[in-house]
Amino acid sequence: MAPEALKLNTGAMMPVLGLGTWKATPDTVGKAVGYALTECGYRHIDCAPIYENEKEIGAAFAKIFNSGSVRREEVFVTSKLWDTEHARTDVRAACEATLRDLKLNYLDLYLMHWAIAEPKAGHTYDENGNLVTLQIPLSETWEAMEGLVKEGLVKAIGVANFTAPLLLDLVAYAKVTPAVNQIELHPYLQQERLVEFSKRLGMAVTAYSPLARPGMGEARLLEEEVVRHIASVHNKTPAQVLIRWAIQRQTVVIPKSVSPKRIKENGAVFDFMLSEREMNEIGTLERGLRVVDPYVWGHIPYFD
Ligand SMILES: NC(=O)c1ccc[n+]([C@@H]2O[C@H](COP(=O)([O-])OP(=O)(O)OC[C@H]3O[C@@H](n4cnc5c(N)ncnc54)[C@H](OP(=O)(O)O)[C@@H]3O)[C@@H](O)[C@H]2O)c1
Repeated sequence: MAPEALKLNTGAMMPVLGLGTWKATPDTVGKAVGYALTECGYRHIDCAPIYENEKEIGAAFAKIFNSGSVRREEVFVTSKLWDTEHARTDVRAACEATLRDLKLNYLDLYLMHWAIAEPKAGHTYDENGNLVTLQIPLSETWEAMEGLVKEGLVKAIGVANFTAPLLLDLVAYAKVTPAVNQIELHPYLQQERLVEFSKRLGMAVTAYSPLARPGMGEARLLEEEVVRHIASVHNKTPAQVLIRWAIQRQTVVIPKSVSPKRIKENGAVFDFMLSEREMNEIGTLERGLRVVDPYVWGHIPYFD
């Protein structure tokens, strides 16, 4: 059986299954988080201010932690520094705003959301429709994030969407090695070499969009015959097979759902195991298909 938590380079344990919250609407997210924590055994929630629902998640946290049904220390909470807050003077205020909204006095993990700095106004476009970016070195942002660890606002810091060249540059000056690299990972986009490289540098890897965002684009991962067949063999669902596949790759996985039925389903992945053959069969689905790409919203060929 794969472990239910991974040890970070800080020594802290990170539960391998978390609840994603992107596109979880403010009116549904609180119930989803509450249900995941109190009824389905989730102990890890992945948040970000850009998801515009941290206040509602905070209200759910307060209710649960005050009731004593789950203790704050039992839950691993991640949030992220948005692109508009990369300047040295903005990092701490951004983290404090997230803490205020989430009604927490520390985060377990704070990630730089993208290696892209944007103006305060948010997505701004020039006359050619290209995203306007700011010239703030990532070293400045990272150093400010290191300050958050020192001051006890966050237990660990990490990155998201970092490619190998970005990681190489970061580790050249980082005093605190990132604890995590959170990247898009699913059978259509396995990034085997980046996973291995991030781990080699001492980071845990979190798989985002692990179901390839069903219904959001061209990806139809849940309908793939190989996934459906393996699911039927184990008497599990295609989503459970994909989540299990991510866990058995020794990655952390954060499927998003606001549906109680699917939150429960996605959490029931610790009572079966995929064989090596099944892991490899799922691996044949690789096709380099990204479902999250800044080229789409900013004409930035970030991953080319
Ligand atoms: N760092 C980054 O840049 C970044 C980027 C993307 C995502 N993330 C994080 O990763 C999380 C997960 O990624 P994601 O939300 O992009 O995609 P995902 O988890 O692959 O897919 C979410 C979609 O799948 C549906 N779903 C969930 N469970 C299902 C099931 N068992 N069967 C069928 N459909 C199911 C959800 O609908 P319902 O809600 O209706 O169930 C939702 O539409 C995000 O929420 C976010 O926290 C981070």
